[in-house]
Amino acid sequence: MIQKIIKRIGVLTSGGDAPGMNAAVRAVVRTGIDKGWEVFGIKHGYEGLINGEYVPMNRRSVSNIIQLGGTMLGSARCPEFKTVKGRSKALRALNQNDINALVVIGGNGSQAGAHAFSEIGFPVVGVASTIDNDLYGTDITIGVDTALDVALEAVDRLKVTASSHQRAFLVEVMGRNCGYLALMIGLAGGAEYVVIPEVETDPDELAAGLMSAYERGKSHALVVVAEGATYNAEKMAAFFEQHKDRLGFALRVTKLGHVQRGGTPNAFDRILATRLAAGATDCLARGEFGVLVGLLRSEVSTTPLSEVVTKKKPLDLKLLKLAEVLAK
Ligand code: ADP
Ligand code: F6P
Repeated sequence: MIQKIIKRIGVLTSGGDAPGMNAAVRAVVRTGIDKGWEVFGIKHGYEGLINGEYVPMNRRSVSNIIQLGGTMLGSARCPEFKTVKGRSKALRALNQNDINALVVIGGNGSQAGAHAFSEIGFPVVGVASTIDNDLYGTDITIGVDTALDVALEAVDRLKVTASSHQRAFLVEVMGRNCGYLALMIGLAGGAEYVVIPEVETDPDELAAGLMSAYERGKSHALVVVAEGATYNAEKMAAFFEQHKDRLGFALRVTKLGHVQRGGTPNAFDRILATRLAAGATDCLARGEFGVLVGLLRSEVSTTPLSEVVTKKKPLDLKLLKLAEVLAK
């Protein structure tokens, strides 16, 4: 019954771009066309959805993009979509263009938008994509693995110079309010300390720990800090500056910032994006709406958006303990 209704679908990318979004767009376009539908690329996330920026796509429209970072559709943060009025405008624009289903590729906020839109009865399916890996309903999101690779390369380089000069380095990584990126980079980069929003860190204890690592014969020290931690790079640097005479050493600070988002998607992210996006058009075809497509225990799986927006994915804090043990 519902399968017959779907003829024209839209696909958009929203929120922070993530490496692999293009592979996801490509897979939505080609699997959608394979199902006999017309597919429209919606420019600039929810902003384009509201303003009717819909571009007809064919198989060739997505040629040669699987290897590219960023998103060929463009992305945006759109405050207007958070309002009922904004979403009503979007619904009107979709109806005017006869588009009757939507795939939303994005992170936490974008899926909150997808949920709100599906609540008004429009068929929506989400695809889990953010470098933060903070989405409930998927073990891993599109883009994290590449972001980790990019950050790790920088961390490895910092360790080289840190050990030449017997210095302590602090690296701040992204992740908004989630410590996943920092924890994984800390583990993979062999950090002495990982500072995340989920666990309070006393900067005095951290300084003592770094000093003790030096006394145990370590030639360098690396601290990985999540941007969302209470003591992020700025606050930690200010603390060390304020207490430099007492602490006896300085921290060199590097903030990786958006460089983590701009990487070329690695094989894992391309394959993940392809599988999840194909899973999204399968959902639409079988009439399963209002869900997020993610990867759970290595299987493409769906979770109701109502759960995705209300539940929090826990961070595995056993790994933080492991990082501490390995740093000794
Ligand atoms: P991400 O998807 O990467 O987490 P944001 O949190 O910035 O990025 O969200 C992207 C966009 O999703 C926002 O700019 C807004 O348009 C939409 N959005 C976020 N939260 C909501 C919400 N509660 N209701 C409706 N739309 C939302
Ligand atoms: O959600 C992805 C992310 O890169 C977060 O890690 C970060 O906090 C945020 O986006 C940065 O947003 P913007 O690109 O708008 O500065």
